[in-house]
Amino acid sequence: MPAIKAVVFDAYGTLLDVDSAMQAHASRLGPNWPEISNAWRLRQLQYSWIRSLAGAHRNFWALTREALAWAAAAHGITDQALLDDVLQAYRKLTPYPDVEPALRRLRADGKEAAILSNGEPTMLADAVAHAGLGGVLDAVLSAETAGVFKPDPRVYRLATDRFAAAPAEIAFVSSNAWDAFGAARFGFRVFWLNRKAQPQEYGLATDATELRRLADLPAALA
Ligand code: LAC
Repeated sequence: MPAIKAVVFDAYGTLLDVDSAMQAHASRLGPNWPEISNAWRLRQLQYSWIRSLAGAHRNFWALTREALAWAAAAHGITDQALLDDVLQAYRKLTPYPDVEPALRRLRADGKEAAILSNGEPTMLADAVAHAGLGGVLDAVLSAETAGVFKPDPRVYRLATDRFAAAPAEIAFVSSNAWDAFGAARFGFRVFWLNRKAQPQEYGLATDATELRRLADLPAALA
């Protein structure tokens, strides 16, 4: 197996808890906020894939806003001030507690670390700053540079270009099975961070190493 030149992470759902934006306003949203949050996330992703296939790119922040409007309409939420607050909270998502220690450990082991995300650059910059991860990341790569979204290979290529690495020299970590699949197809060494104990899909049982928590990554990389 080739030596790993860099460890590259997906952002939303992998490092950042995408439900934390609605959770922060749970009392105003009501008890079914997790369902609304899920609808928001699914629409956001769907929009990204459909626009990539249609060759009709629009940045991920715009899609996040459109998806929130859809989820709100579907659930009868009309309080615009609440929706504005929720959208702004998406720029300050809570990082999972295992993220910073794992990134520090990679640093201590002499490994480079980066984010490769569909996120638009300023929303990623805000999220990284809020999570206090700026000092432990060597690069934050946005799909916006490629003008298309993961799992299009042009996005994964941003990482091989940045680190002057072959795909097999990049370790890629994602909680999103569809992203782990795309990354494995591209040739990355993939770690599927199955935080929510989801069923296996996309052949990840053979094409990726499954982790339940980031604390297990250093040993898996060794
Ligand atoms: C990311 C989202 C889509 O690329 O998970 O960060």
